[in-house]
Amino acid sequence: MKQFVLQNIIRKNILSMNPYSCARDEFKGSEGVFLDANENPFGNLNRYPDPYQTELKQALGSLNNIDTSKIFVGNGSDEVIDLTFRIFCNPGKDKALLFPPTYGMYAVCAEINEVETLEIPLTPDFQLNIPKIETVLNDDLLKVIFICSPNNPTGNLIKREDIEFILNNFAGLVFVDEAYIDFAGTKSWINEIAKYPNLIVSQTFSKSRALAAARIGIAYSRPEIILFYNKIKYPYNVSKLNQQAGLEALTAVDDFTQRKNTILDEKEKLKAKLNRLSCVTGIYPSDANFLLVEFTDANKIYSELIARKIITRNRSSVVNSCIRITVGTPEENNILINALLELL
Ligand SMILES: Cc1ncc(COP(=O)(O)O)c(C=O)c1O
Repeated sequence: MKQFVLQNIIRKNILSMNPYSCARDEFKGSEGVFLDANENPFGNLNRYPDPYQTELKQALGSLNNIDTSKIFVGNGSDEVIDLTFRIFCNPGKDKALLFPPTYGMYAVCAEINEVETLEIPLTPDFQLNIPKIETVLNDDLLKVIFICSPNNPTGNLIKREDIEFILNNFAGLVFVDEAYIDFAGTKSWINEIAKYPNLIVSQTFSKSRALAAARIGIAYSRPEIILFYNKIKYPYNVSKLNQQAGLEALTAVDDFTQRKNTILDEKEKLKAKLNRLSCVTGIYPSDANFLLVEFTDANKIYSELIARKIITRNRSSVVNSCIRITVGTPEENNILINALLELL
């Protein structure tokens, strides 16, 4: 097997380019007379935010017991995904490997960046098809493999030993998307960054931290990889308001735990109630905050729910006759169940 050599999988132009140097790169500190960035001296939001989100990273670092040099903060994890293509994949040449059905932005970002995607569908129990994956791991043009665990839209965790197999046998980067990890009750792959030089783990404040509006996504990896995310990001990619919202969310530990537990309780209740409905033919196991539910006629149910202003995600095009249902508040879940009962 080939060795993982970081310099070989970073696009040459990204390696050699000079990054934009923002005014706040040159002076650290918040006290002073700031006449450097052509800001307006008046107002409350008149100053550019910290380009490297230092305080937020310090809080994330102590939460996860990880050095801040191993943390990148992006404008949602969608930015982290897009930057991953831009750092590692030469447009019109390199490839990425996806395991559908999975989160749609990997394919969209690949297309935007003109990167070919290889697709190896998950097995019927939504796990990785290792024998098929083995056949492509030595493709020289394959730069990044995206693994979503727990996976969206199927909801399940991907087996640890399969992810380990890929990490050990692939000389490119392995991107593990943990958007839903806090609902899963298992150890994060963040703990393995020291062991695997080719691992990038992404997480988000949009799900368990209840902060989707603030657009905060994170990449955890070795400092030599994180460096390139900082090199090519927009200079002030996370607003001051959003950095503050992120910091506040991290201090509200009780709210976080209580909300997460409520969602997990509600998931079980919702599952039990859905299971009793004759229009439900199956519910897939979920390690996330949503359920993938198979209906007798998903398209019809989806439209009937929309007509009642209950919005779910019709995933019939990717998993036969399935709708993805996010676990809401107890009231919202009751509204859904009552509407489905009415439809029967
Ligand atoms: C698996 C997965 N990754 C990433 C995201 C995007 O998260 P963010 O809001 O941080 O951009 C989502 C959003 O639904 C998701 O399901």
